[in-house]
Amino acid sequence: MIEYLQQIKETATFLIESGFKEPVVGIVLGTGLSELVNHIEIKESLAYEAIPNFPLSTVEFHKGNLVYGKINGVAVVAMQGRFHYYEGYSMQQITFPIRVMKAIGVKHLLLSNAAGGINTNFKKGHLVLLDDHINLQPENPLRGLNLPEFGNRFPDMSQPYNKNLNNLILQKAREKNLFIHEGTYASVVGPNLETRAEYRYIRSIGADLVGMSTVPEVIVANQLQLPCACVSVITDECDPDNLKPVDIREIIAVAGKADKKLSELFAAVIAELS
Ligand code: HPA
Repeated sequence: MIEYLQQIKETATFLIESGFKEPVVGIVLGTGLSELVNHIEIKESLAYEAIPNFPLSTVEFHKGNLVYGKINGVAVVAMQGRFHYYEGYSMQQITFPIRVMKAIGVKHLLLSNAAGGINTNFKKGHLVLLDDHINLQPENPLRGLNLPEFGNRFPDMSQPYNKNLNNLILQKAREKNLFIHEGTYASVVGPNLETRAEYRYIRSIGADLVGMSTVPEVIVANQLQLPCACVSVITDECDPDNLKPVDIREIIAVAGKADKKLSELFAAVIAELS
């Protein structure tokens, strides 16, 4: 863990020296979601393999760049592609970039992902603002020795998604006439999609949508007291009584279609942050 802390500091120093100066907002772009990068007036862009201690993205449709620049005058650092537990990384590796973002000064974290719709009101292409989550992944990024620099050993999770950020996202969605649901996200390991019985189970425990990411990052953000919010794009409808086979290519295509509205929403939100 001491080595992990040293790696965080080393990577943060490297990024600051590479020009990633005082970013206000950290952004994680999920599967099929990269349009927001077109809103960034890019000052620096580094492939993950060029960043010391960064894990490498193994999923071919995830890009793997860390981009720094301005959106509407606000300095941002964006991960184009995230790390998933199903790729074989440890939870510490998956959440390493979140700790590095905090170390270089990020004050707000905006996450996105592609998710399956469990709530039958959630249709393909709809946006969902996460209000809460259920962690169904078997591991926890906070397991192990907790150094004081990491934060509280037992972080509170009564409000994992920041109320002010969520209200701002809802307000900007209203101003843009963008329809957005709110819901509870269940995180699974994947990489297979769920069986009918599993979707039924996920619905019965109170989740509205399901995906393979995000929750480890949100747990760490809460330990770091880094306010975070997440918007999901519904890419497939998980009605166990009427389940159609899904193909990952279709999931990516549906995410791609919703990418523009999600990016416009995030850009409008970022303009208000300092
Ligand atoms: N299940 C899990 N992860 C997902 C899904 C799903 O149905 N859709 C997109 N990511």
